[in-house]
Amino acid sequence: MQNPAMIDDSVVDVIVEDSASLSDENEAFEGIVGESTKMQEVFRLVERVADSDSTILINGETGTGKGLIAHAIHKQSYRRDQPFVSINCGAIPENLLESELFGHLKGAFTGATANKVGKFEASDGGTIFLDEIGDMSPDLQVKILKVLEERRFEPVGGCKTVQVNVRIIAATHRELEEEVQKGNFREDLFYRLYVIPIRLPSLRERRSDIPHFVSHFMNRLNSRKKTCVKSISDDALNVLMQHAWPGNVRELANLMERLVVIKGDGEIDINDLPEKMKNEAPKNCFLAPEITGDGLCLNTAVSEFEKRLIYQSLEKTKWVKNRAAQLLQVKRTTLVEKIKRYELQKCA
Ligand SMILES: Nc1ncnc2c1ncn2[C@@H]1O[C@H](COP(=O)(O)OP(=O)(O)OP(=O)(O)O)[C@@H](O)[C@H]1O
Ligand SMILES: [Mg+2]
Repeated sequence: MQNPAMIDDSVVDVIVEDSASLSDENEAFEGIVGESTKMQEVFRLVERVADSDSTILINGETGTGKGLIAHAIHKQSYRRDQPFVSINCGAIPENLLESELFGHLKGAFTGATANKVGKFEASDGGTIFLDEIGDMSPDLQVKILKVLEERRFEPVGGCKTVQVNVRIIAATHRELEEEVQKGNFREDLFYRLYVIPIRLPSLRERRSDIPHFVSHFMNRLNSRKKTCVKSISDDALNVLMQHAWPGNVRELANLMERLVVIKGDGEIDINDLPEKMKNEAPKNCFLAPEITGDGLCLNTAVSEFEKRLIYQSLEKTKWVKNRAAQLLQVKRTTLVEKIKRYELQKCA
């Protein structure tokens, strides 16, 4: 595979064409990177459901692009010229959230010096994006349930019902089904939201997108920061390909900003990468991931481990599959099938 993060002048056109391939087909995905099979599946699903008005529940680890996809769904829907109103249900203090969502009348509570239109009313005709819905208090979960069912609500301190025509998209980094089992999330609300689920894969599950992200962020940063970083070395890219990216795309975007701003021009080399990152790849290969308080999905962890071993054997054998299969004591066909499944690609 060609390293798409090399942006010497001769290949600039190719890269621009590459990252614009989706947006050519569909403006709603403009600026959204996703060449991997998993992201292409997400895009196709978004295209199918955007106009349906059905409630959508987006699930994915932090930094996987939930906000970006929610906006793309709105842009793709017939509501695109109407408001897209986003509210982070986890970031607003509980006592203010009801007023934020439903508005309030003057005098409804101390400090309510004027009438206030809530997010639901503000998004009338368009889309409301309920971000981090898994962090909503039980009281509010009841109130939201009613709006989802009837598209009607009463502002705080008011008795007049307001009716809205709004499309609902919710997102959470939590596994809501598990939260229901633990008693943290209402089952009835879960089923109201769980109409069309969209799961965004972590960056670890779509490593083939990493070179495209690197090139995308490099281009964008060069034009925003007036820098002229032209490429990234294969060694450096290799390290990025191996990193676990717990912060997903946001972590990669932040790292690229740091690298591009500090470097200013030329090529990003392995020496420019954070020390910790350079050291982790080979060592971590055989380390079990840490089990945090939220637990860990054994299947995902085992797959990740398998993928790393396969990648390592391919690197060791210069991607000669027969030899890599021998090293791992599996049939060549098994190896080829797994390479395809994990979307493993040779860097440059
Ligand atoms: N596919 C993508 N293409 C381009 N940029 C992306 C993509 N996915 C995420 N990003 C960028 O990464 C950052 C994080 O994305 P976003 O805020 O949508 O993630 P999130 O899943 O909502 O994260 P959180 O759970 O922390 O709110 C943003 O700057 C976003 O523009
Ligand atoms: Mg978000």
